[in-house]
Amino acid sequence: MIACVSDAGWEGLGGVVEGASSGEVMKRLRSGDVRVLARVISAVEDGVEGVAELVAACRAVVEEAAAVGRVRAVRVGVTGPPGAGKSTLIDAMVRVWRGRAKTVGVVAVDPTSPYTGGALLGDRIRMQGFGGDEGVYFRSMASRGGSGGLAGAVGDVCAVMEAAGREVVVIETVGAGQDEVAVARVADVVVVVLAPGMGDEVQSEKAGMMEIADVFAVNKADCDGAERMEGEILAMQGLGAGGAGWVAPVVRTVATTGQGVADVVEAVERCVREGGAATRVERMAAGGAALDHVGIVVRSIAAARKFYEALGLRVGREELVEQEAVRAAMIPLGGTRLELLEATAEDSVIGRFVAKRGEGLHHIAVRVGDVDAEFARMRAEGVRLVSDCVRVGAGGHRYFFVHPASAGGVLLEIVGQAGAR
Ligand code: CO
Repeated sequence: MIACVSDAGWEGLGGVVEGASSGEVMKRLRSGDVRVLARVISAVEDGVEGVAELVAACRAVVEEAAAVGRVRAVRVGVTGPPGAGKSTLIDAMVRVWRGRAKTVGVVAVDPTSPYTGGALLGDRIRMQGFGGDEGVYFRSMASRGGSGGLAGAVGDVCAVMEAAGREVVVIETVGAGQDEVAVARVADVVVVVLAPGMGDEVQSEKAGMMEIADVFAVNKADCDGAERMEGEILAMQGLGAGGAGWVAPVVRTVATTGQGVADVVEAVERCVREGGAATRVERMAAGGAALDHVGIVVRSIAAARKFYEALGLRVGREELVEQEAVRAAMIPLGGTRLELLEATAEDSVIGRFVAKRGEGLHHIAVRVGDVDAEFARMRAEGVRLVSDCVRVGAGGHRYFFVHPASAGGVLLEIVGQAGAR
């Protein structure tokens, strides 16, 4: 039987919880009854009256188990840009866990569609791939806008899944935006899935992904560019920087054939054993605010490229930013980047900078959690801004500039978390 059934015949959670039968709900949930699991998750999503009590009971169950030394479920966040093959990789990982007799729950956070029958149908289709194995449970959840709200809802669903005996809970999200940062706060391990062929488009997102990743999967590794992508990740991790703590391993996978998938599962389990997530939590506690890049004006990117490549750095592809009349190329450097800027017109901002001051340091860019909120705050506080609105740059990142008069004599660029909505 498929582990996803209609709610017909169920008497409604509210009444059950209020009455003496809340114990019965918990009993059936803890016995692993997937109908009850489905019903309780719906109730969490809908915020049904009385559900908070039930979630609290679930959390108590999980804590009790932990108190007697039973390890609670491992929460694995899996994220990456659309097209990287996340769902296929997750399905393959689920097969590895099922092969080890572990029960798995998958929560797919879908920001594009509200929770509807359509999502339910998708869940059914995915579960059918497992031939009705009740040890696998898929569930889509609508993203709830506010990131705190989403993290809360996902945390609740994880607790319900754990109380229902799921040993692995996978949380699937898209990209590296607010939702992913929120989910990363809930997960024990975060796997970032990338694939070659999308390199330059996700370049600006990668910085945000570096922050949340405990494990990288370079999927579609049988395609051209996998090696280059792995190299870019390693470069961004700042190889040679030594550094204490967990360094996210990079695993090449071909999810469609299963190649490398067991290695991803192994990396996830090693991260749990070695407490690797602590390194990520520290990184993220740095506020989500971080040095994103340093902008350097050059007369010729081609000439500067030679110099920096001779230094052993990788210089990314040149991108034309038409609205600024500038060409830009990024150089990954540790957790941050250098941004080489070359004017395409003499009467542009960068063109005038070169004419007046020659080559040189131009700006520093700080990444913040909520670029719109910062823009509104600074404007309200009378901070002198160069930009009259939050702009969208190449790769979809959002930014604005603060005048040196307000930033201690430095032109300051404020950029949002990549992919943030
Ligand atoms: Co910049």
